Amino acid sequence: MRRSSRYGERDYAFGQMIVTLRTSIGLTQAGLADWLGVSRRAVAEWEAGSSYPKLEHLKRLIALGVGEQAFAVGREAEEIHALWYGAHQKVLLDDRWLQRLLGQRHPQLTPVTPLTNEQSIIKHAQEPRVDWDDALAVPTFYGRERELATLSRWIIEEHSRVVSVLGLGGIGKSALTVSLMHQVAAHFQVVIWRSLRDVPAYEALLDEVLQVLAPRPLANLPDSREQRFSLLQEHLRGQRTLLVLDNLETLLEEGETTGHMRPGNEGYARLLRWMAETEHQSTLLLTSREKPGELVPLEGSRAPVRSLRLEGLDVLAGQQLLEERGLVGSAQDREHLIERYGGNPLALKIVAGTIVELFGGESDHRGITGSAGHTPATCPGARSPGGVAPPLAD
Ligand SMILES: Nc1ncnc2c1ncn2[C@@H]1O[C@H](COP(=O)(O)OP(=O)(O)O)[C@@H](O)[C@H]1O
Ligand SMILES: [Mg+2]
Repeated sequence: MRRSSRYGERDYAFGQMIVTLRTSIGLTQAGLADWLGVSRRAVAEWEAGSSYPKLEHLKRLIALGVGEQAFAVGREAEEIHALWYGAHQKVLLDDRWLQRLLGQRHPQLTPVTPLTNEQSIIKHAQEPRVDWDDALAVPTFYGRERELATLSRWIIEEHSRVVSVLGLGGIGKSALTVSLMHQVAAHFQVVIWRSLRDVPAYEALLDEVLQVLAPRPLANLPDSREQRFSLLQEHLRGQRTLLVLDNLETLLEEGETTGHMRPGNEGYARLLRWMAETEHQSTLLLTSREKPGELVPLEGSRAPVRSLRLEGLDVLAGQQLLEERGLVGSAQDREHLIERYGGNPLALKIVAGTIVELFGGESDHRGITGSAGHTPATCPGARSPGGVAPPLAD
């Protein structure tokens, strides 16, 4: 961590910039520290103006700020330049990197705001309406070109009606799905993202989706569940909609390779079957740790129901992720680490944070297998003796 210019003199202006950015992102000091892989004290010191972030932490912070739209719209580059200048970096801000970062956002897509029906019809003719505020920001995304190509082919060219992204916790299902959603959004009239992490009641989800598809006062929705479902079907047939449901495993019985819906989730099961079996022009994209049992009999290589089981990141992407987290050391040591954690990005993030904290980022042999209680080998996600990475909480 670099000290501010003159010992004992605080750089309040810089501290204020960090506080403003962090609060616009909506994180606590601990949350930001966690995200950046630094100690909470480090963040507190930046905010107190007594030290400046290292290059990689500053870049990651900026990327997060861009992902979370924390900079003033239209003035992002200007504000980022000011932050960089204020952070007394030894190197100049890489404009190409900044342009790429700002280019990854999709300003042409408009978030859903309450619209009259007439307005919404006009909008459909021009550009997709999106309601993806709940989707997590993925500030940096490495690799996965092959998976993105396969998934977008299924969705755009083959018009798959249900696409599942399956895999262990932390393997990158949500991150991949967010990236995919941005990539294919322009092919849809409406894009909706919802996480099922908190297990919303089916009726509540149905109402929310209907509000996006056909904004109207709640009182004007039909009373019965049956009628609301019919209305949903009508809209999914009429408007090409991408509905993304993240964390579907929360609806399934635990401990089965093919998950069956828990009692009480029959509404969701019916929605899944309808999406898969019926002719319409929309797509349901879901992530889950296990494959929902409803889809098994419907799946096939030419069928409109597809699933992709996600494996770990490849070595190159894993290396990029570790570098971004501030890991130094030889490429071979990093490769060893990637292999050991099965390329699981969440496990790699956690272990990189630990190494940076304890060993200053040196991923040498001691860093990987050292005997201290907190060695990465004891981190969650470390491969068990059987060689299988246990699921991680995400
Ligand atoms: N391809 C990737 N490049 C960079 N970071 C990634 C990538 N895939 C996942 N991550 C990061 O790894 C962590 C776990 O990924 P996530 O998508 O939440 O996993 P899952 O949804 O499978 O539990 C997140 O912090 C995410 O941003
Ligand atoms: Mg997830």
